[in-house]
Amino acid sequence: MWWSSWSVDDVVRLIGMATHGTEYRVAVDADWIQIWLIMSEVARRGDTYMYAPDIDEAAARSAWMLDGVHRAATFVATLGGDVVATACLKPNQPGLGDHIANAAWMVAPASAGKGIGRAFAEFVIDEARRLSYRGMQFNAVVATNARAIALWESLGFTIVGTVPEAFRHSGGELVAIHIMHRDLSLPDAPVRPRL
Ligand SMILES: CC(C)(COP(=O)(O)OP(=O)(O)OC[C@H]1O[C@@H](n2cnc3c(N)ncnc32)[C@H](O)[C@@H]1OP(=O)(O)O)[C@@H](O)C(=O)NCCC(=O)NCCS
Repeated sequence: MWWSSWSVDDVVRLIGMATHGTEYRVAVDADWIQIWLIMSEVARRGDTYMYAPDIDEAAARSAWMLDGVHRAATFVATLGGDVVATACLKPNQPGLGDHIANAAWMVAPASAGKGIGRAFAEFVIDEARRLSYRGMQFNAVVATNARAIALWESLGFTIVGTVPEAFRHSGGELVAIHIMHRDLSLPDAPVRPRL
């Protein structure tokens, strides 16, 4: 069944617990200030997302907070009540391409490398399946973002194309971006290459 809107029951059902105590839920307006802190820092670093490093709050909010968009949602991961990561899920294309999801994640830099990104990614992928998306596509994974690429590949994504010099890295170089894809119709569990 195609998803139509997020109900209170959905929000309650979506609250999950990871082993490290992180909870996941749909973002609400009150989360924005903490999401903005994460987003502005990630954007300012200029090494992982296309957002202008000096993106203003209104533009960031418009891009990230997807309330009201059909079969889309913004999520937060919280730890002890604090937002430590955020994610977006939406159709990658309108109309005849809207069976493929697009998603994006940002873990607060201070919380990175602790397993939150992996658990949160698994949560959002499960949500995409629940919403009947058949696949998930990332349109611009920066080729130097080794952590993200390792994570996505370990979750079953493959690089289906590379656009040379498409990203103006804050380091000054022109860097390639990868388009990555995962078939969500396959029931297989995500692959974890490292023990
Ligand atoms: C990319 C990101 C979402 C990963 O989340 P995270 O919480 O830091 O990652 P995790 O701790 O869950 O680690 C996930 C995987 O990343 C890889 N990884 C972690 N640290 C790494 C490092 N220093 N170098 C290379 N790979 C690394 C590993 O494959 C790890 O898998 P493991 O569980 O087998 O160890 C997060 O770092 C982030 O938000 N970065 C900034 C924004 C961004 O790059 N978003 C993605 C854009 S495509």
